[in-house]
Amino acid sequence: MQNIIQGIDKLQDLVRTIGSRKLFMVIDSSYPFLNIKDRIEEITVPKVCFSDFRPNPLYEDVCKGIDLFHKEECDAILAVGGGSSIDVAKCIKLAVLAREGREGLIPPLVSKRLDIDGSRIPLIAIPTTAGTGSESTHNAVMYYQGSKQTVTNDGVLPDYALLEPKVLATLPLYQKKCTMMDALCQGIESWWSVNSTDESKGYAKIAVELITQYWRKYIFDNDADAAANIMLAANYAGRAINISATTAAHAMSYKITSMYKLPHGHAVAVCLPEIWEYMTAHPEHCIDPRGKEYLTDIFNQISESLGTAGPKDSIVFVRQMMKEMDMENPVAVNREQELGLLTESVNPVRLKNNPVELTRDTLCNLYGIIVKRSVVLHC
Ligand SMILES: NC(=O)c1ccc[n+]([C@@H]2O[C@H](COP(=O)([O-])OP(=O)(O)OC[C@H]3O[C@@H](n4cnc5c(N)ncnc54)[C@H](O)[C@@H]3O)[C@@H](O)[C@H]2O)c1
Repeated sequence: MQNIIQGIDKLQDLVRTIGSRKLFMVIDSSYPFLNIKDRIEEITVPKVCFSDFRPNPLYEDVCKGIDLFHKEECDAILAVGGGSSIDVAKCIKLAVLAREGREGLIPPLVSKRLDIDGSRIPLIAIPTTAGTGSESTHNAVMYYQGSKQTVTNDGVLPDYALLEPKVLATLPLYQKKCTMMDALCQGIESWWSVNSTDESKGYAKIAVELITQYWRKYIFDNDADAAANIMLAANYAGRAINISATTAAHAMSYKITSMYKLPHGHAVAVCLPEIWEYMTAHPEHCIDPRGKEYLTDIFNQISESLGTAGPKDSIVFVRQMMKEMDMENPVAVNREQELGLLTESVNPVRLKNNPVELTRDTLCNLYGIIVKRSVVLHC
């Protein structure tokens, strides 16, 4: 069970509540410039800072954090940053608590839910991006030997998620766009996921409606109220995927990120409209046990929350958002080879959450639409 707290002014009391004597802080390179830094520095308990990792963290980065945690004998963790910082904190917590140690973060053990008592190391997460919702999920993403690993364990769900939207003031515009699109796609994917429940659909609906209402003011006007609502939306989307997990747009995005160096949210957002278009055209391949009429109804509900007349218009709406934000699709260099590698990369386990079956041929065709041909200029 997680507590969601609003406002950085609550942090001091929170640290007192968890009774930490030495706090392990996981922070990224933006920390020195954050407008909440001074409030964090006011915490009176001794602090040890760990920031020696990069965005989309590697196993080797996490191991350095595990060693420092042990050496300094800390008793609680405060993660301040985007999804990368929060995920590093979760991985450190898991490795410190699990009998299997850091082996629990890599294959084969990473796919097992190890037995840990999360309450032994309280974790507070303060997100500084509005996108991943990692502050409210039991997942952590990390790369091992070039491939993405997802740790899933209820013991790593942060005990406290502290939301302070004013921190978004320093987030670069392109990061704002990418992270917001991650939240929107998480909301939409969670809603149509075969694992959705009434609770997750309720969270997804709030996320999608808040983003629909506030995205322009957040991106183009730098509006503080809009930022607060987008941060809330991202948190609701996180709570939604914590129950339902993500679907094909996320599964197809990971290789796009590593191949074309597109940030996570950008990569997911170029996949989602194409997958949605395919799904509306092929209800006969529905694999959700609730049936294709149910799925059609879900698509219509999502469309209503996006303020559109139906799925067709919703797909146009998402593409139009991307266009207005100048977020372009990746361009192929060696097209045939790249489409093959992309298709092979998709994790079949994740595709099982998708409500419509996507075969290898379908994936290849979809990547063929998502990845644009390079334009050859003739002089
Ligand atoms: N655990 C989950 O449930 C979950 C869900 C979705 C994504 N993820 C993972 O999260 C990671 C991406 O996280 P992200 O999109 O939040 O980005 P990020 O954490 O990688 O941060 C991106 C960049 O933004 C900077 N930054 C962050 N906040 C800032 C601020 N307020 N001001 C200035 N700069 C700031 C960081 O220093 C970094 O350079 C990926 O590894 C992704 O796979 C995890």
